[in-house]
Amino acid sequence: MTTLITPADIARLVAAHGLPALLLRLADAIAADFRRWPAFDKVPRVASHSQVGVIELMPVADAEHYSFKYVNGHPGNGAAGLPTVMAFGVLADVATGAPVLLSELTLTTALRTAATSLMAARVLARPGARTMALIGNGAQAEFQALAFHHGLGVRELRLFDVDPAATAKLVRNLQGVPGLVLTPCASTADAVRGADIVTTITADKRSAVIIEPAMLEAGMHLNAVGGDCPGKTELHPAVLDAASVFVEYEPQTRIEGDLQQMPAGFAVTELWRVLTGQAPGRRRADEITVFDSVGFALEDFSALRLVQQLAAELGLGRPLQLIPALADPKDLFSQLQPVPDLRPPRCAAYSTAAIAAAVRSTLPVFSPATQMRPERTR
Ligand SMILES: NC(=O)c1ccc[n+]([C@@H]2O[C@H](COP(=O)([O-])OP(=O)(O)OC[C@H]3O[C@@H](n4cnc5c(N)ncnc54)[C@H](O)[C@@H]3O)[C@@H](O)[C@H]2O)c1
Repeated sequence: MTTLITPADIARLVAAHGLPALLLRLADAIAADFRRWPAFDKVPRVASHSQVGVIELMPVADAEHYSFKYVNGHPGNGAAGLPTVMAFGVLADVATGAPVLLSELTLTTALRTAATSLMAARVLARPGARTMALIGNGAQAEFQALAFHHGLGVRELRLFDVDPAATAKLVRNLQGVPGLVLTPCASTADAVRGADIVTTITADKRSAVIIEPAMLEAGMHLNAVGGDCPGKTELHPAVLDAASVFVEYEPQTRIEGDLQQMPAGFAVTELWRVLTGQAPGRRRADEITVFDSVGFALEDFSALRLVQQLAAELGLGRPLQLIPALADPKDLFSQLQPVPDLRPPRCAAYSTAAIAAAVRSTLPVFSPATQMRPERTR
């Protein structure tokens, strides 16, 4: 049996552990897997682009587990009442190929993206960073805010979104978080001024310039999350030129990240090398660092493994017969035995006479000869 995890299960899991503890645990789980980097079979995600968005498949595996995520990015989806990003994924057993977990990944993507941003900022932001500009206050924003507040000690969030309703929603959701000051700002430049960390998490299917070189200040860390697709960027190329740039998986970020604007030889450092001590993270207090985040399959792998473990501990999820249960593994054909159709007849499709005949056929049959009722069926 495959275990099915729904958004309601994730909400229960968060309620049981608390969002701060879960974000920290997820950041640790992702970091632990990044430290095992060579153990994974990796490939840039496979993307299918359209005029309005992208649909992507993200596979990764180690010797024991395989996972993939289906995820989209449609910045105009709000008009259709749908989120920009929707996702689900599978964790499978490498030894047999059996899918063991089928999980929602929309909420989990927001959790794992925030946890990955935290993991990167721990080695790239200036120690003692307390102020963060948060540009783009949509679906992902609260998760980022809470990861940096609880995991790094950020105390003030300077907020900007071109949609004031998105900022108002964020303020509504986070007001009352102890020790967190929320400051809505009039523009990106206003929000970024004086910030130790700048998180950009906007959605726009074009090469936007959210952060200009003139906005940079010595020692800033930029957590650039929204530029994650060919033709979809957030940073002016001169911002990357002025910074030390860190990425998840270089072959994928060269195609999808803000890095797509830079020449092939532009130097970047993969985060796993920093986490294993093979490369430095931040080297100086006045250095400008950029985490050019695009989202890598390994983060979903770590999240699926953690969800599997915590759901089992809490008894969450439900068994799903996704694969046929076969008495004889070679007798797949026997699964095609007709199954009785228990659906009620669709009356609108029948004439009155046909309905009357159908009703009569369900009544007990009387014998005209004896006028005796047949035995009741037990
Ligand atoms: N790197 C990753 O791992 C990762 C993971 C998840 C999502 N993302 C990306 O993050 C972005 C945000 O995702 P979301 O689910 O929050 O989307 P969303 O549509 O819910 O929110 C995006 C917000 O950005 C705002 N925005 C657009 N252009 C702006 C601009 N020029 N200045 C300020 N605000 C602007 C929009 O008004 C909206 O409120 C998307 O681009 C998505 O693809 C990346």
